[in-house]
Parts: sequence; structure tokens; C-alpha cells
Amino acid sequence: MSDTFAPRLAPALLSWWDRHGRRDLPWQQDPTPYRVWVSEIMLQQTQVATVLRYYDAFLAAFPDVTALADAEPDAVLHRWSGLGYYARARNLHRAARVVRDDHGGRVPTDFDTLAGLPGIGPSTAGAILALADHQRHPILDGNVKRVLTRVFRVEGYPGDTAVAKQLWTLADQCTPTERVANYTQAIMDLGASLCARRKPACPLCPLASGCVAHRDGVAAQLPARKPAKARPRKATVVLLCVRPDGAVLLERRPDAGIWGGLWGLPETGTVDGAAGWCATALGAAPVSQRVRPVLQHAFSHFDLDMTPVELHVPAPPGRAMEGDRWLWYKTDAPARVGLAAPIAKLLSSL
Ligand code: ADE
Repeated sequence: MSDTFAPRLAPALLSWWDRHGRRDLPWQQDPTPYRVWVSEIMLQQTQVATVLRYYDAFLAAFPDVTALADAEPDAVLHRWSGLGYYARARNLHRAARVVRDDHGGRVPTDFDTLAGLPGIGPSTAGAILALADHQRHPILDGNVKRVLTRVFRVEGYPGDTAVAKQLWTLADQCTPTERVANYTQAIMDLGASLCARRKPACPLCPLASGCVAHRDGVAAQLPARKPAKARPRKATVVLLCVRPDGAVLLERRPDAGIWGGLWGLPETGTVDGAAGWCATALGAAPVSQRVRPVLQHAFSHFDLDMTPVELHVPAPPGRAMEGDRWLWYKTDAPARVGLAAPIAKLLSSL
């Protein structure tokens, strides 16, 4: 049912824009492909109010694409400073040189050629050609994605290929053949204003009557965020070597890596390796061995499953295990040492 709104979207949007849209922006006066191009690059990731502080000075310094191409990269970056995301300026300058060298200094108005220039791509090319040359092209920048995911209640993450494809189809279905420049500006304006990411102003929105997300009360939840990557899970076996007096063997962890410099438990790769580790490192085979329940610990970038193996070792073990690296830790009279938190918890449970 939602798709039936597609042909009604442009008329509703355009009548809103006729009443509320801005027509006084500098790039809307004399909207040549070059002037619109510069504005569209500046408006990526930057609000109109900020762009207004830089646009006229940039155009005064580089009034046409050849002037921009002939400038030194530093001069371009200098005029960009304050706008941020400097890759945009470097790409704009590179693209200007391509236009000067390969296209006779005329900004291409062929979609594929324009979309292939550094920093442009299909949405920006569509916007430039719609705004400056009244060509009909769908656009799908961040603002438009937000509008379309809400109006048509598209649930998936827009960065997914299949979801992006669906959004491009919807963008195309919504783009009118008449007044395409105004429509293009209007849908970007709507996304930048009423259809804000947080707290969308649905009661004021010209598309509210057809908006499925609004009807269903889920507008603020769309578009879906990038799904969190599955966190890697690592596993280790930690050894609780317990002397008859109750002391547990600790090992100082290397400075680099997790729990750097703190005291932890010796580790082996497998439960089966535990008794062998005792025999080799301590010079004494354990008299008993018990596997305890797995402990889970979340680090910032991975989860760690620790399987504690409790090993009772005879006294005195064959090797002293002293010095900087080893410590017999008495749980009834604990030394004041830095312990990794899950290890401290485990020791206190003994
Ligand atoms: N974001 C990108 N292009 C824009 C434009 N032309 N107007 C408003 N916001 C934009």
C-alpha cells in the first residue's frame, strides 16, 4: 500500500516547498553546474548555515572551474579551512583539474562522466544535474534516505546493498518529470529540517498523511543504524595452582596487551594442558584437578571466555616461583597487588 504514495509525494512536497522553501541561497542565484557542484560538496556533512559563511569567499577566490584547477592545493585547502572533512576539498580540486584537462574546462553535464569525477558519485551528480540543468535524476543522500526510509517504512540498514537498491528504486519512483530542480531541493530541505534524525517534526510534515513510519509511530527509529559487528569471542584456560597452605600462583602479565602489568593467572591453551604445565613450570604434578565453570568477561573489542582449572599442588613444589614474574598469593592475607578484576573475583571465591 505504501508504494501508492510515491506519485503523490512530489506534489505534496512541492506545495510545502512553495510555501516554506528557501530561494535566497547564494548557489541558487545563477545556478551553474560549477556553482551548484561547489555548494553540494560543501553541503555534504555540513549544515547550510555553516556553508553560508564560506561559499561566497570560495567562489570569489575560485570563480570558475579553471581558476580552481589552476590554484595550488594549499590555496584551496586554505579557503576550505573551517569546513572540515578536507578530503572533500582535495577531491574537488582534483576533479577540477580533470575537468580542465579532459573536458575543456566545462563541467560535464553527462551523468556518467560527472558521477565518475573524484568526490561526486551518483547522488551528488544527480543533484547537480537536477539543480543546474533540470535533468531528471533520482538522488539519495543522507537526508533523502531518511525521508524515504520513513515514508515507505524501509526497515533494513541503508548501507546494505539490497536496502540501498530498494531506496534507489523508491527515489526514482518519487522523482517527478516536472519541476525536478525544485523537487530535488525540496526533498533535501525536508530531510535537513522537519524530517530530522532525532525528534522529527511529523505534525508539520507535508508527507505525514502518507508516511508509514509516522502512521506506525516508528519514525524516530528509522533509518536503522549500522548493525554492530559481531564481537570476536576468544577463549583461554586459566590455572588456579593452589598450595596446601591455600596460596595461589599468580603471574605478572606482559606490559603490552590486556591487563598489561597486572597480576593474573598462568594460562594454557587447553584444559588437557593444565597438568603438564604444572609439571613443567612448577616441577611437580598436581595431586588433584578440577575444572570450574567458565567465566565470561567483556573487553572493549572482544569477549573472553575463561575456563579456570583448579590444581592442587604438593608442598613445597619443586620450583620456588619467585621474583618479578611470579607470586604466591595468599587468599586469607592478600598482598596489595594490582589484579585484573575478573581474576580478583575468582580468587575471592576460593
Ligand atoms: N545537503 C546536501 N545538498 C543540499 C542542498 N542542496 N540543500 C540542503 N541540504 C543539502
